[in-house]
Amino acid sequence: MNPKRITAPAVRAMKGASRIGMLTAYDYPSAKIADAAGADIILVGDSLGMVVLGYPDTLSVTVDDMLHHTRAAARGAQRALVVGDMPYLSYHVSIEESVRNAGRFIHAGAQAVKIEGGKPSRIKTIEAILDAEVPVMGHIGLTPQSVNALGGFKLQGKNADDARRLIDEALALERAGCFSLVLECVPAELGAFITERLTIPTIGIGAGPNCDGQVLVYHDVLGLYDGHTPKFVRKYAEIGADMQRALEHFLSDVRDGSFPTDAESFHGTSSEELKRLYGSRESEGAVVVEMPKAQ
Ligand code: KIV
Repeated sequence: MNPKRITAPAVRAMKGASRIGMLTAYDYPSAKIADAAGADIILVGDSLGMVVLGYPDTLSVTVDDMLHHTRAAARGAQRALVVGDMPYLSYHVSIEESVRNAGRFIHAGAQAVKIEGGKPSRIKTIEAILDAEVPVMGHIGLTPQSVNALGGFKLQGKNADDARRLIDEALALERAGCFSLVLECVPAELGAFITERLTIPTIGIGAGPNCDGQVLVYHDVLGLYDGHTPKFVRKYAEIGADMQRALEHFLSDVRDGSFPTDAESFHGTSSEELKRLYGSRESEGAVVVEMPKAQ
């Protein structure tokens, strides 16, 4: 293991000591940039289904999709803890299959996995994955893989019963041994309450300012995704528009002949020598070609 790598126990120990900065990243360049920017955790999120693969939600993402992206991101991250997001149906069928799938993320270069939900059957699965020595990050609140069951991408834990269910799930995930917990799209008061009750760090996304850390999707932070942007996203750049401007500039230079210049070209055999070997386009328009003799 890279000695500079932030580990799952180190993330856990950050509770109360320093705020945790987490970003998603899905490939070598994005993970390298997030790592160089100082992310403590890089989540290879199944949000890649929407922001990279163009699906309307995360449900179509497969384990093979995730492993492909985890391998690439893991090659780009030297310091950040790399967490692989287990996609829909990779931990729902049986405990044995879930443990095997979790292990595949470790083989792909992740140091931990993230799993959505905190109901009793999920806790059993998480305990089995932990028993296989794979650190697990929990995730409750708006769990996008449950979008059909939840009836849409909606704020969770609004009323007292739902808030109590989420608090119970958070405590159960902590007891099971998760090293951290993502709280997605819950009222700020509930985010603060759960954060105060737990001994493991909470990482919020749309869960208010009092979580132990915050996570945003790479493409949202950079302005690279033109789909729906939730209220909790802060865009720090409009890289998508900058990228389009740069590409338009290139295409215009190609069309008006200003790319490439001589300085952007290589030189070898002179044009005179090439003409001597292969002939030249004569003024009457015919191309005279003298083929060199085969050896
Ligand atoms: O897939 C993802 O990007 C996530 C984060 C938003 C927490 O689960």
